[in-house]
Amino acid sequence: MSSSIQKEIETLSRKILDHDYRYYILAQPIISDEEYDGLMRRLQELERQYPAFAASDSPTQRVGGKITKEFSTVTHAVPMLSLSNTYNEGEVRDFDRRVQEILKNETYRYICELKFDGIAISLRYEDNIFVQGATRGDGSQGDDITQNLKTIRSIPLRLRSVRNGPHTLEVRGEAFMKRVDFQRMNGERQLAGEKTFVNPRNSAAGTLKLQDPKLVAQRPLNFVSYFLRTDDIELVSQYENLQLLHNLGFPTSGHTKLCQSIDEVIEYWKEWERRRDELPFDIDGIVVKVNSLQQQEQLGAVAKSPRWAVAFKFASRQAETQLKAIRLQVGRLGTITPVAELEPVFLGGSTVSRATLHNEEYIRELDIRLNDIVIVEKGGDVIPKVSGVKIEKRLMDAKTFKFPNQCPECHSKIFRSEGEANYYCENSECPAQVKGRIEHFASRGAMDIEGLGEAIVDQFVHLGLLKNCADLYDLHTRQEIILSLDRWGKKSTQNLFNAIEGSKARPFSRVIYALGIRHIGASIAQLLVDNFITIEQLIGATETDLQSIQGIGPQIAESVVRFFTNEHNRRIVKRLKMAGVQMLEKKKRARTSQQLSNKSFVLTGTLATMTREEAKQRIESLGGKVVSSISKKTDIVVVGTDAGSKLEKAKTLGILLLDEQKFLNMLQNEF
Ligand code: IVH
Repeated sequence: MSSSIQKEIETLSRKILDHDYRYYILAQPIISDEEYDGLMRRLQELERQYPAFAASDSPTQRVGGKITKEFSTVTHAVPMLSLSNTYNEGEVRDFDRRVQEILKNETYRYICELKFDGIAISLRYEDNIFVQGATRGDGSQGDDITQNLKTIRSIPLRLRSVRNGPHTLEVRGEAFMKRVDFQRMNGERQLAGEKTFVNPRNSAAGTLKLQDPKLVAQRPLNFVSYFLRTDDIELVSQYENLQLLHNLGFPTSGHTKLCQSIDEVIEYWKEWERRRDELPFDIDGIVVKVNSLQQQEQLGAVAKSPRWAVAFKFASRQAETQLKAIRLQVGRLGTITPVAELEPVFLGGSTVSRATLHNEEYIRELDIRLNDIVIVEKGGDVIPKVSGVKIEKRLMDAKTFKFPNQCPECHSKIFRSEGEANYYCENSECPAQVKGRIEHFASRGAMDIEGLGEAIVDQFVHLGLLKNCADLYDLHTRQEIILSLDRWGKKSTQNLFNAIEGSKARPFSRVIYALGIRHIGASIAQLLVDNFITIEQLIGATETDLQSIQGIGPQIAESVVRFFTNEHNRRIVKRLKMAGVQMLEKKKRARTSQQLSNKSFVLTGTLATMTREEAKQRIESLGGKVVSSISKKTDIVVVGTDAGSKLEKAKTLGILLLDEQKFLNMLQNEF
């Protein structure tokens, strides 16, 4: 009996580790998340009943670690060196000259790798099992963070077997966080009123230092390997080492390149400087290494860096400049964002004179004061942000910033809900909000009124022709005024009126989305109209009614009720209805379900308007099914941002691809 239990535990454990490898390393899972969870639950249950059979490399051990008071110190068998930096072609050519001098007439090749902007770590495996993981520390001694590292799913707990491969070895690499994961995590932290991190690197560093592995397990850390050391077999080159690392089950970067000359290295550097934002994680340059390990040994090291490798960094996207003023900006939903007015500074290809400061708490946390010298940073996203302050450069005239209590646009009192980071202007007539709301109402994903862009909305609001979105449907009565304006002729005016008229045909869900209710994106709008068929039903819904719908939590429910309780909003809705805008859900479900029933979907990448779970629910509610891996049987692949290998596979199989907008259209039955 017990031996069969032990066998089952072992088999399950191997199976799960194998699925981890397929999922995290090959990005080709062969079972669904549910099936995976089922295997894991079974293993946990067996190990709970028979703890004696629980192995130290069991996948359940990923979160099994206890809280540590203090990390113990690990002495690195071979010091973890750092790299010397180069910043331009001249410097990297100097490096090449030095290599050439030492290697004399020998030929040599370089291997170029991405320089991951994360935290260097070292992993030790004995007899195929992961036994110890450590930080770099000062290069000779680091912290033992084994329990934290075990939680990283892309770090194998046991080596995969490779013919004539090593069993005892050290692997070094980088722990990092993808940008989307970082943003999602920070967003959640902000909502929960917790401290946010400045960038993915700091976030990875902060996570590895946590003393409770259970908390680490909840954070989305990744690992990539770039160094292997073993006495078991003879190693030949970095290129082959990377292949071996991959075969042993470690993630490696897919973007390495063998180069015959320094010119090719410079080309690689230029290419990745240009393409760095295409990657889902941050890099701050490339690493150039002499490929042959024998030649690496010949070159040796000076002080703390090897002579066989160099970091070739990208131009910094950080700069220091003076903070001249802080201005408040009002968004369409009344969100108030503090914006830094800066002494203009050249940064990552353009001049920056403004940067976001996120919210009051952020300013306080970083202790940013007016006239301070601050650090501005351009991340993967376009909007620059103030990421720090040079306290040592603080001047006598630095002044703390007092967050105003009035809206800068309409001077009404601003308010902040319990636990929220942002202040809001509650005056729905506030001109900044009026413009933003009308722009949103007319936008493509909402009522899709062609020709009604930002400039026209600005002009019409300024002239008093528009005060809210219901006014759009009375605009034809103001034809005379519009015709008297510069650049408005009979034809353009008529085109605009036609576009407005045409918007009356948009389905109810789009109307709900167009109203611009806080927290209601396109998919939640659809969910609402699926459950409340008419506007009257929706207006009458209580928070409890709303929360009884799967996918609607307290925040959304509160927001909907708050919106429809407002007299002004109700008047607008009434006018929209009178104008002929759709205020009930036409039952088109039969057609949709015919279209979707039994269709097999795969989701890849990140969607901006909904989580993966929401997307799955929506597809299933329309009769489709969602599977995790692509095969010839897959009908449709929904492609979000940062889609990985699944997208490539779908393309090779010629499967129908839908971007987010097309997917939303399909859900709204306009596909
Ligand atoms: S090799 C002796 N390869 O850059 C060479 N390092 O200052 C050891 N890094 O501490 C490092 N990507 O944290 C190497 N592909 C890569 C890397 C990389 C990022 C980091 C690593 C190291 C620092 C060098």
